[in-house]
Amino acid sequence: MPRLEHHLLRSGPLVGPALPGSPRAAQQAEHARRQQRCGSARKAGGGDGVTGDNGLSLDGRASTARVYNYLLGGKDNFAVDREAAEKIIRSAPDAPDVARENLRFAGRAASWAVATHGIKRVVDIGVGISYGVPIPSVETCVKQADPAAKVIGFDPDEVVLAHARAYRPGYGGVLHGDVTDLDGIFNHPAADLIDTTKPIVVVLAAVLHFIKDATAVMDELSERLAAGSVVVLSHATSTDTSQGRVAGMTKAYKKASSQIIFRPEEEIRALAHGWDIVTPPDLVDVQRWSPDGSYNGPSHETVRVVGMAAVLPDHRPEQNHTAGAVQ
Ligand SMILES: C[S@@+](CC[C@H](N)C(=O)[O-])C[C@H]1O[C@@H](n2cnc3c(N)ncnc32)[C@H](O)[C@@H]1O
Repeated sequence: MPRLEHHLLRSGPLVGPALPGSPRAAQQAEHARRQQRCGSARKAGGGDGVTGDNGLSLDGRASTARVYNYLLGGKDNFAVDREAAEKIIRSAPDAPDVARENLRFAGRAASWAVATHGIKRVVDIGVGISYGVPIPSVETCVKQADPAAKVIGFDPDEVVLAHARAYRPGYGGVLHGDVTDLDGIFNHPAADLIDTTKPIVVVLAAVLHFIKDATAVMDELSERLAAGSVVVLSHATSTDTSQGRVAGMTKAYKKASSQIIFRPEEEIRALAHGWDIVTPPDLVDVQRWSPDGSYNGPSHETVRVVGMAAVLPDHRPEQNHTAGAVQ
């Protein structure tokens, strides 16, 4: 990591309160205004206050979060991230569009899940860096659907956590957590807002394709969560995409903080084994689904991300959970 960039990130423009009248204060005000338009405006800086780990860990590798930020058109990335992202774009020129459509899908599907199922708690795992991107993110859309809903974010990347705590006031907390350690997430000392005896929404947008054993994650979720809980997920697929493009994008992530795994559609659908997929007709291209069917984003020829929302049926009668219960 070049020293200047490291210094800028540690000391300066991206974390901590802005000086009144400074360009960053203006940026923060604009961001708050945008959030407000989407239905949520709370004081910025809503960290959990428990982990106290706003320190940044940078190891010189491209990070999946900052590569995604570059694809979204954001500015919170470094040369190493841009280099990886440009390799991805060379293999799949649609990648920036697809990243933006993924973000839109995550917001639409999560807010739909909250509104339709009357669920008041959302756990967003892998929150990404969407600051400065003019697309409402998950927590903003959820709060718009139900201002009383609480969204708790988790991410293992300290840079992501610092950004989210500073710039995403819609979260009721942004905590350190890894999707491969669900115990750490659901038993986090600051996560007492999450009551897994009642239905919750779990958002896994563009996260499981970084996880080798994604099936284990979904299986554990179905064990841990109450019937009536909803998982919203999106995932890069190799189906109907040229092998050369998939190989090129996979290679671009080879030295990144996590490696991407393009799975065929049937494997992604199988992740919801035991769940009821409720995004008709089934697994969908992220730019093709909206609750009323009216949203139809641009078609993509060079890379596909598919998504679904799935509900956990009441298959464990002895636990006697009430689907759709309001918390
Ligand atoms: C491509 S971004 C997606 C961000 C956001 N969910 C969205 O769809 O807009 C992937 C995010 O997942 C996070 N991530 C990577 N590995 C993870 C893991 N094992 N557990 C939880 N989050 C992870 C990254 O730090 C990054 O913030």
